[in-house]
Amino acid sequence: MLPLLLLLLFLVPGSALEEPQLFQLFQTSIFPNTSSAEIAGRAVLGDVQIFSLDPATWNLDLSYPWVRQAIAESDAEKIESHYKIYMRNLVRYVRDVGRQAGLAYPLVIQIRAGCELSPNGTTRGFFDVAENGASLVAYEVGLQKWAAQQQSLLAEMVKTFLDKRKAISGLMDHILVISCKSHIHSLHKYGKETLERQVQPVAVVFARVPSPAHLLLVCRVTGFYPRPVRVDWLRDGQEVPPGPELNSTLTLPNADLTYQLRSVLAVTPHDGHSYACRVQHSSLGGRSLLVPWASSKTGQKASVVIAVLVTAAAAVIGAFWCWRRRTQVDGDLLETRDLAA
Ligand SMILES: *[C@@H]1O[C@H](CO)[C@@H](O)[C@H](O)[C@H]1NC(C)=O
Ligand SMILES: *[C@@H]1O[C@H](CO)[C@@H](O)[C@H](O)[C@H]1NC(C)=O
Ligand SMILES: *[C@@H]1O[C@H](CO)[C@@H](O)[C@H](O)[C@H]1NC(C)=O
Repeated sequence: MLPLLLLLLFLVPGSALEEPQLFQLFQTSIFPNTSSAEIAGRAVLGDVQIFSLDPATWNLDLSYPWVRQAIAESDAEKIESHYKIYMRNLVRYVRDVGRQAGLAYPLVIQIRAGCELSPNGTTRGFFDVAENGASLVAYEVGLQKWAAQQQSLLAEMVKTFLDKRKAISGLMDHILVISCKSHIHSLHKYGKETLERQVQPVAVVFARVPSPAHLLLVCRVTGFYPRPVRVDWLRDGQEVPPGPELNSTLTLPNADLTYQLRSVLAVTPHDGHSYACRVQHSSLGGRSLLVPWASSKTGQKASVVIAVLVTAAAAVIGAFWCWRRRTQVDGDLLETRDLAA
């Protein structure tokens, strides 16, 4: 009974939004000359694309059917019905400023806007503008003004130009904080399966022998989602602290929107210690993946033995839960018996 209960415990989904949520809109506008503009854009929540902008029609291509439901529920629908006006204004503003500042074409304007929702519920909105690859101005949310991001006449000019448009500032504060936050919540409500997808990592430990006196233990962890992961080496059951003998790649994307990582530990051959790679990931609940290094005579054989380590904490919680269930069941039985009597 206990293993089943533990399994159930692990499968209970955690309360949503334990991680910071970053909603970002990227827009790149290329002005080849004074009369044309090409605009590309897309929105992402974390690493999941939500929609993209059709450069020809400026229509939004929603990346999943549930995005429509999420948009309908939040302010996003109102914003969606007005964003083409914003795009036209943007093109006009860039041309006006370009003319006043005597800018040379082609011109590239990039915008990154959105918000970050912290697990504690606070929201930080942002709206950054870059020109030809360099930060130009950023909106200061809550202060209703813009800040130059470089010391140039152009940045000052754009700042002054935008500061005068008070109607925009008021709207920006609302969109970047209140609308953005409610949009993240409704995206999670309808797109839970995609956004809160959990895929367990697969880990393999093998060795490389660059020279007879050196042994590199490689722990290859792949196929996991979401991105945050923790990979440690255990020497005789003790975590190997960070140091020169420990190396790890960055977490890199796979083609199927999962991630991979390698951690390398340099050891002396036949040092008499036991080694294991430990992987901690949200998809494993409270458990860890423990892959021991099976040192053979040649020390080169790959180890694919995967063991699951139930952490002491999880076991304690599980036992406690089981105990509570039992007391409750006993109580229920007692009550039934009383009724029958
Ligand atoms: C402006 O650029 C576009 C796209 O490159 C081109 O088709 C158009 O002819 C150009 N217009 C002028 C006036 O140069
Ligand atoms: C909420 O969390 C963010 C970071 O995630 C932190 O900067 C901020 O101070 C926190 N606010 C409160 C009220 O705890
Ligand atoms: C760790 O990586 C750095 C940079 O790639 C390399 O110079 C170093 O030798 C590596 N150390 C080990 C133990 O693999």
